[in-house]
Amino acid sequence: MIDYTVDGDGVASIVWNVADRPMNVMNNESVGAFRDAVYKAIGDKAVKGVIVTSAKNDFVAGADLVNLLKESKDPAKALQNSFNLQKLFRDIEKAGKPFVAAMNGTALGGGYEICLSCHRRIAADNPKALIGLPEATIGLLPGAGGTQRLPRLIGVSKALPMMLEGKKVDPKAALALGMVDEVVAPADLLKRAKEWILGDGQTGHVKPWDQKGFRVPEAANTPRGAQVFTAGNAMLRAKTQGNYPNAQYIMSCVYEGMLVDIDTGLKIESRYFVACTQSKEARNMIRSLFFSIGEANKLANRPKNVPTQTYTRVGILGAGMMGAGIAWSASAAGLQVVLLDSTQESADKGKAYSAALLDKRIKSKRGTEADKEKQLGLIKATTSYDDLKGCELIIEAVFEDRNIKADVTRKAEAQIAADAIFASNTSTLPISGLAEASSRPANFIGLHFFSPVDKMPLVEIIRGKQTSDETLARAMDFVKKIRKTPIVVNDSRGFYTSRVFATYVTEGLTMLAEGVHPAIIENAGKMAGMPVGPLALADEVSMELMHRVRQQTRKDLGDAYKTDGSEPVLQAMVEKLGRIGKKAGKGFYEYPADGKKKLWGELSRHFPVKPEAEQPDVQDVVKRLVYIQSVETARCLEEKVVIDVRDADVGSIMGWGFPPFRGGTVSNIDTVGVQPFVTECDALAQKHGARFTPPKLLRDMAAGGKSFYAI
Ligand code: NAI
Repeated sequence: MIDYTVDGDGVASIVWNVADRPMNVMNNESVGAFRDAVYKAIGDKAVKGVIVTSAKNDFVAGADLVNLLKESKDPAKALQNSFNLQKLFRDIEKAGKPFVAAMNGTALGGGYEICLSCHRRIAADNPKALIGLPEATIGLLPGAGGTQRLPRLIGVSKALPMMLEGKKVDPKAALALGMVDEVVAPADLLKRAKEWILGDGQTGHVKPWDQKGFRVPEAANTPRGAQVFTAGNAMLRAKTQGNYPNAQYIMSCVYEGMLVDIDTGLKIESRYFVACTQSKEARNMIRSLFFSIGEANKLANRPKNVPTQTYTRVGILGAGMMGAGIAWSASAAGLQVVLLDSTQESADKGKAYSAALLDKRIKSKRGTEADKEKQLGLIKATTSYDDLKGCELIIEAVFEDRNIKADVTRKAEAQIAADAIFASNTSTLPISGLAEASSRPANFIGLHFFSPVDKMPLVEIIRGKQTSDETLARAMDFVKKIRKTPIVVNDSRGFYTSRVFATYVTEGLTMLAEGVHPAIIENAGKMAGMPVGPLALADEVSMELMHRVRQQTRKDLGDAYKTDGSEPVLQAMVEKLGRIGKKAGKGFYEYPADGKKKLWGELSRHFPVKPEAEQPDVQDVVKRLVYIQSVETARCLEEKVVIDVRDADVGSIMGWGFPPFRGGTVSNIDTVGVQPFVTECDALAQKHGARFTPPKLLRDMAAGGKSFYAI
């Protein structure tokens, strides 16, 4: 777990090597063993100094979150644990002999906090290594001294963004920030650590903050500090809308901690850390962002007993916005890509998209000319179906038109092996219907990518009625190969993501029709934690597209089609006012070429606003916008459109930006409590309509006192 040795020159090495784990993590056992080694070194007079390093590729990746959740069930015990860890790190600082962190690889969270407690940080020049305090991204804060030591080391104004945004940087960037003291060639790391211990380290083992007269230059009681905290607080408020208590706690730790000595500061930090561990936000974020996404990436729902498919060559039909993006992702993963369009010009344009992205990488030093040449060499832009020979998978991304899709399906299937997979990237057309054009519907599946493909990590895999287990498993292998996260859903109109996401936009439009002030609707969306308000989102998606999808649905469903309160708004915007959205430069917002978007001044003339006294409370609007998404998700679960609740949560956060602090659309129901959620939905249904009526699944769960998750 932790190896301890002392060499002939009196230099001790404490080497992290946690068994049965790909990375070193901090839990009761590993920290216990580390503690024993530290005190052995401190107590041994023959030891002149200590190197802390790792036998794995990475240094230490941070806390073992399973252990952390278990240990934080009892807040009093959690506080005591935190005090104990703080004492251990403080004893390293005050050891009276030098400790050097020899950071051979990634050092994150608690791992980097070990380094912060050492007297010197020497990092190996490993551009893949990541250094930082990312706790904020899962609802926590650096609770082993990070909020106290980092600002004292590099200054408040540099430390705050690192911690609030949970940024991770490579060793060279860490050096520039002052987070490490030296970057050396990997082969020289241990040699250099020892050299420092036996040289400068013999006198250089008193931390600046343990020296007389040390002052934090940007503490809140200095003019510069006052500025930094005022600006920081305003930015934080705008970004988080107060939805992330841990971010506020990080601010408080730094604000309060910099006004006192480090020992008091560490106690302050421990108290805020424990408050974080008790928050529903941290539990939601750890559950969904860490465990559920982790399980999805490990293909937890992959049908068993299907051999793993390896991919070498894929075909993409349609080199438009989506096809070009998919070609980028597949070639970036080293696959040969045949990118086919109806004209060579369009196919070339699709390939040029990858060239442009690769140029950007070269400019930002994330890639080289050689990388570019190699990746572009993998993409063949063509109009010939013959080139599809040998493709193990075809992804169709042509126009959203059944007949065109059927035509390209037949043409491509004529060229590929009988066991190859055919996938459609349709965003609205049911997969089982499209599969009718296929001569092998068992091999037909939906792979729904999100735009822009190079940035969006989610792929919604849609199983048609006839899709086989084998095809599903092999499609999941492809998603993993291109380093994206799959969720698996069954066929349904709008599948899962578009169906639930649409309720958010529709609810916003419905409120506009009711006379709710547009600014209230938009603010409520942001206060709810959504990336943008529903009206802005309608503009982004394009109202023309939404209108067209509805007309198609009306045609398909006939009498079964149900209209809703948003329909007159869409109709007016598209047909009467010609304001179809951002693409056209006008929608609910105006998009001046040189300025920030502004709600259209004439909106209230076309959609009259109720008098102020009749406007709803903004919190009620927030509730409508959030609950409608959760209740629709529950319907998807009841109808078995989504099978695994974790997929529903992951899809909502990664697919359309449902707020992580709520843990996703399902976790949100658990957070409210199933029973209270049902009661509140009934009240909303009475007031606003049957779309809020909870499905039987929720009523049964409420009656049985059940929740979706155990924690
Ligand atoms: P696009 O209009 O940018 O690209 C479509 C491409 O298909 C064009 O380059 C066109 O020349 C080509 N094409 C049309 N007919 C063809 C044929 N018979 N043979 C070969 N190529 C043909 O459209 P976009 O946005 O890339 O969408 C493509 C598909 O992806 C659609 O089914 C759409 O619903 C779906 N989708 C779109 C998303 C989006 O955000 N735009 C998101 C997810 C899915």
